[in-house]
Amino acid sequence: MAEKIKIFDTTLRDGEQVPGCQLHKDEKLRVAAALDKLGVDIIEAGFPISSPADFDSVKSIAEQTENAIVCGLTRAIEKDIDVAAEAVKPARRSRIHTGIGTSDLHVFTKLRTTKEDVLDRAVAAVKYAKKYVEDIEFYAEDAGRTDNEYLARVVEAVVKAGATVVNIPDTTGYCLPDEFGAKIRYLKENVKGIDKVDISAHCHNDLGLATANAISAVQNGATQVECTINGIGERAGNTSLEEVVMIINQHDDLPFYTGINTQMLTDISHLVSEKMRMPVQPNKAIVGANAFAHSSGIHQDGVLKNRQNYEIIDPAMVGANGSSIVLTARSGRAALNYRIEKIGVKLTKPQLDEVYQEFLLLADRICMVDDEDLKKLVGDYVVTNINS
Ligand code: KIV
Ligand code: ZN
Repeated sequence: MAEKIKIFDTTLRDGEQVPGCQLHKDEKLRVAAALDKLGVDIIEAGFPISSPADFDSVKSIAEQTENAIVCGLTRAIEKDIDVAAEAVKPARRSRIHTGIGTSDLHVFTKLRTTKEDVLDRAVAAVKYAKKYVEDIEFYAEDAGRTDNEYLARVVEAVVKAGATVVNIPDTTGYCLPDEFGAKIRYLKENVKGIDKVDISAHCHNDLGLATANAISAVQNGATQVECTINGIGERAGNTSLEEVVMIINQHDDLPFYTGINTQMLTDISHLVSEKMRMPVQPNKAIVGANAFAHSSGIHQDGVLKNRQNYEIIDPAMVGANGSSIVLTARSGRAALNYRIEKIGVKLTKPQLDEVYQEFLLLADRICMVDDEDLKKLVGDYVVTNINS
């Protein structure tokens, strides 16, 4: 039987850490409402101790959210936990997300302490948070570069202390998919009590591997994926929600599903892009402007005969406007004819051959030919032929 993969959205926390993308409270409430409708399981609404405005936003999101669990981030510090607990209190279902760095780099050069101290602080934070809420997620920051044996010790200790979810972040986006999957498998096989909790994959995209690593984690036992709309986030960003969801959705060979309403993906991508003033790259998977655009003659001919020749996703499934046949100097006769028919003109084969030559000259000059250009092209041709 297929297993549900929980979608933990951190657009409003890790995503909002992008310089220049900070949102005002009303914008955050709008995005949070859209995420709740989209069907995410958890909304990480912010880092409440970071500023009074963030606290206020998390609290308001907690008040308005109808379905998702509302989560607030903390360090493994009591004051952080007190403030986060207060912020998420109004939520129907709330979670505190606490944690500490576990890699040698973080332990020795960031925290400047010992591994035993980190372990103690991790356990103490979980126990402390537990007095406020039942649902505690623990993150082992830089788990991607943490040695598996020590990571397993920390994870086992926090599970024993009451953590309900253990988050394994590849904070610097360093891991390879096999390596990250093996890390999750190692925890599954070596941590007592691990089957009682969710393992969460939180991957960064520094080497462009965030989505691949998250999927590898799922294939090896992770039951929650942390992601952001459009993959936004610090540096090269986080795992992209729409990519993970559509990979799981499209691959029947993956025995998983999510609760996401995929038809809302395009709209929410636009919303986040607009509110965060962060354009989506045109070639972005699933939601980019060119995700369903075909411009080369060979592809256009194939798509016009059967969309599935070059599309693995029905655009309607992600709420996109449909496939588009874009006319460039690489386009073929089939595409040109298709677009000419769309503006209501029917040409014979010899006529099409002639228009095609004129079209190529134009396309070489102006790169992309639109309907207005086409009307002129066909109009001139028809006039010329009528007169001759
Ligand atoms: O990337 C990371 O390690 C994080 C943690 C705070 C969860 O964002
Ligand atoms: Zn992160």
